[in-house]
Amino acid sequence: MAKKISRREAIKTLGITSLIAPSLMNFTANISDKIIELPSELYYQNIDFIEPLTCVIIGGGNRGWAYATFAEQNPNMMKVIGVAEPVKIRRDKFKDAHNIPEENIFETWEQVFEKPKFADFVIISTWDRLHYAPAMKALEMGYNVLLEKAIAQSWEQCQNILNQSKKNNGIVGICHVLRYTPYFNKMREVIQTGEIGDVISIQHLEPIGNIHFSHSFVRGNWRNEKESTPSLLSKSCHDLDIIYWLLDKKCKQVSSFGSLNYFNKANSPMGSAKKCTGGCEVESKCTYSAKRIYFDKKEWGVSHLIDLQPWDSEKVMKALNEGPYGNCVFQNDNDVVDHQIVNMVFEDNTTAAFSMEAHTSYSGRRTRIMGTLGDIIGDENNLTVSNFNTRESITFQSSELKNQFSSSGHGGGDHGLLFNFLNAVYHNDSSLLSSTIENSMESHYIGFKAEESRNNNGKLINL
Ligand SMILES: NC(=O)c1ccc[n+]([C@@H]2O[C@H](COP(=O)([O-])OP(=O)(O)OC[C@H]3O[C@@H](n4cnc5c(N)ncnc54)[C@H](O)[C@@H]3O)[C@@H](O)[C@H]2O)c1
Repeated sequence: MAKKISRREAIKTLGITSLIAPSLMNFTANISDKIIELPSELYYQNIDFIEPLTCVIIGGGNRGWAYATFAEQNPNMMKVIGVAEPVKIRRDKFKDAHNIPEENIFETWEQVFEKPKFADFVIISTWDRLHYAPAMKALEMGYNVLLEKAIAQSWEQCQNILNQSKKNNGIVGICHVLRYTPYFNKMREVIQTGEIGDVISIQHLEPIGNIHFSHSFVRGNWRNEKESTPSLLSKSCHDLDIIYWLLDKKCKQVSSFGSLNYFNKANSPMGSAKKCTGGCEVESKCTYSAKRIYFDKKEWGVSHLIDLQPWDSEKVMKALNEGPYGNCVFQNDNDVVDHQIVNMVFEDNTTAAFSMEAHTSYSGRRTRIMGTLGDIIGDENNLTVSNFNTRESITFQSSELKNQFSSSGHGGGDHGLLFNFLNAVYHNDSSLLSSTIENSMESHYIGFKAEESRNNNGKLINL
């Protein structure tokens, strides 16, 4: 639960006074005793734990590794004492980095729960389709859970996890990492201090980038709804969550359109083949040539950076020949949409329009927030706040909005989230956590309902 503190206290807590230029000081001075809601100041203070909290990583891939590095950097707060991961090279990497005893190393998540509870919490960082079963079992056994998004593959499963957490008094944190970035915290703080008045509407764009999209959502783990979740849930639940978190209001109506327009068989060029390295006649000219992206230009990591470090030509070529990343983007089994729009009406008739776009040369979320007294324009690098009355603007640069976790992934969100979650578990108080499962269910609900709308020709859905 957010804690109410005065604006003066908030600024002191955040240590942002030095970042505020004189012009903003002037216009904020006009704002009387507005109340600001922020996560508890625990979020910003280092606390010495008497003992570190112990953790088992379930799914030792990219995300599991990113969270585990928190333990290396903050050994007083967190210790990784177990891992479940089918790929040996990844298991070994965890074992060596965290000195995990042999009896706590498992090939699959089920084996963790064959042992009596032996850690304070588990991090579930398996693929989307493998969130539900381990989360339910972990809670049943009394573990607290840090669960990767999307929470689960259906709304019903999300509700079951929530109920299971209530029944067993387990704290469940959802990895909505953007909530913990200094950039989005600044955006929310500007809104909550009243600097732009009442928010009337939000326009939010997630430009995924065409190569990123082809990697993750055409060739990779998030390409197929049944094997994963719709891209609105797997990728953009973050965005729906940020919109909900910024507005702090319930959504009451939603409608959505979107489809897979480009990465499908209809656009497959003459002479193309199932594999870029398997006799494709147009490979050398193709924007999405796997050889070009992963091998020649090294534009994207072919699979798991942790497996392929250092760069190994033979291994990479083998991965392209045999694995999904060498598949033709026009002849794969992908079905998730490459563009989608979601229109939302919130309480007080505040509106939000969200777009998820695959076909962009750039990335970095673009947000425009329109208020009665001013507006905000942000692109994750710069955040410009303008005041209609004074005609003044101030721009905050992401690189200057820092906290002690800024160097971690997702603009500081990865370790900021862990810090927040660990405090909640340590104090057995979920109100110290921002992205609780209860809170995160709001945006997942919008996501599942938006999908219902999209699958029904954009039908307006009342929530
Ligand atoms: N919060 C975020 O910003 C963010 C970013 C990227 C991905 N994610 C989410 O994190 C999750 C993991 O993504 P990732 O990129 O780390 O994927 P990944 O493929 O790198 O990691 C998943 C790991 O789970 C392992 N695994 C498979 N079956 C298993 C089993 N039975 N038991 C235990 N482990 C098993 C895989 O071998 C793999 O190493 C996904 O749900 C994804 O949507 C979240």
